[in-house]
Amino acid sequence: MFNVQDIRKDFPILSRKVNGKSLVYFDNAATSQTPQQVIDAIIDYYANYNANIHRGVHTLSQEATDLYEQARQKIQAHFNAKFSHEIILTSGTTDSINLVANGFSSLLKKGDEIIVSALEHHSNIVPWQMLCERTGASLKVIPMNEEGELVITDFDNLLSKNTKLVFVNHISNALGTINPIKYIIDKAHQVGAAVLIDGAQACPHIKPDVQALDVDFYVASAHKMCGPTGVGMLYGKEDWLNKLPPYQGGGEMIAEVTFEKTTYADLPHKFEAGTPNIAGGIVFGAAIDYMNRIGFDAIAAYENDLLNYATEKLLAIDGLKIYGTSKNKTSVISFNLEDIHPYDVGTILDKLGIAVRTGHHCAQPIMDFYCIPGTVRASFSFYNTKEEIDTLVEGVKKAKMMLS
Ligand SMILES: Cc1ncc(COP(=O)(O)O)c(C=O)c1O
Repeated sequence: MFNVQDIRKDFPILSRKVNGKSLVYFDNAATSQTPQQVIDAIIDYYANYNANIHRGVHTLSQEATDLYEQARQKIQAHFNAKFSHEIILTSGTTDSINLVANGFSSLLKKGDEIIVSALEHHSNIVPWQMLCERTGASLKVIPMNEEGELVITDFDNLLSKNTKLVFVNHISNALGTINPIKYIIDKAHQVGAAVLIDGAQACPHIKPDVQALDVDFYVASAHKMCGPTGVGMLYGKEDWLNKLPPYQGGGEMIAEVTFEKTTYADLPHKFEAGTPNIAGGIVFGAAIDYMNRIGFDAIAAYENDLLNYATEKLLAIDGLKIYGTSKNKTSVISFNLEDIHPYDVGTILDKLGIAVRTGHHCAQPIMDFYCIPGTVRASFSFYNTKEEIDTLVEGVKKAKMMLS
């Protein structure tokens, strides 16, 4: 049974005060909070297993290696990848995307086309622009509508035999829209294009099945799903990962090195040069265990209830406008109060102990579409409560009174 008060006890930070008030943490889309079980796993690693991996014959190194590889298997099982070597551990979503973009440098040429969406985080725009500069390929954009949804008929029209890659996020970080990724993957495959799905915002809410999606690449960050910062994953179909050249050179990613020629290690090590974030990888596994124990169905149902409750309460405030009104969305509410700058609203909320995000949320094209400098973004997690939403609503009313 889902009991939010019990769950909250797992998160020590939720009982701290900010500016003399009980913390209300609504910046979950930026990073999630860390349960004690994950904090304990970090301590356990450094207290008992700290050693470099894959290279030592001594016991500590072997134990740390086993834990790291077990974490990879956990991630494989969570995303339902066919093989554990299809999971590359990276420093996060941004790193995973850059790895793929770098790999495609030698596979694209002038005249090839890459499709991204208008709803992307800068991490899923800039690496592809850089790839286009290197290769002469061109970037096409699936437009969005007023509700913050992709105009999917325009996507159909953008596809052609020149389309080589399609990059879309599973869920928009700025608006919460859930994109129709299965449709996009299937359509892109019909013209022979590969698809990368940015799952940074999806993984805290749902459990993706990469085989059922038939996606070529899927990327995520541990810190959005109760894990530590500085670690993330790239799922790639085995064939694609074998086709892509290594991203970085160094220790771990080699088979043989001579000054004449170096050969590369097999997957996944070919893409994991240097000493990785060992504790991070192991603890990513612990975070996945934690979220699975709560259960993604329960998480989705609870967060949807919070979303509906907050939407209704916030919309009752005169002059408040929500951006991103798709029926298909997760627990993110981006809003503005009349023409008050979002930064000012965020500053007053912070004085009341309420943490929200303000600004363009690394998605400037979305803000340009709405002709606004940014929004206030409240993003809810399974450990938030309706009482906290009431506190937010009161805070927003107070901000309106003070600022208008
Ligand atoms: C949709 C999306 N993509 C990519 C990223 C970048 O993730 P990271 O900073 O963990 O690399 C984020 C982070 O907010 C995001 O929300």
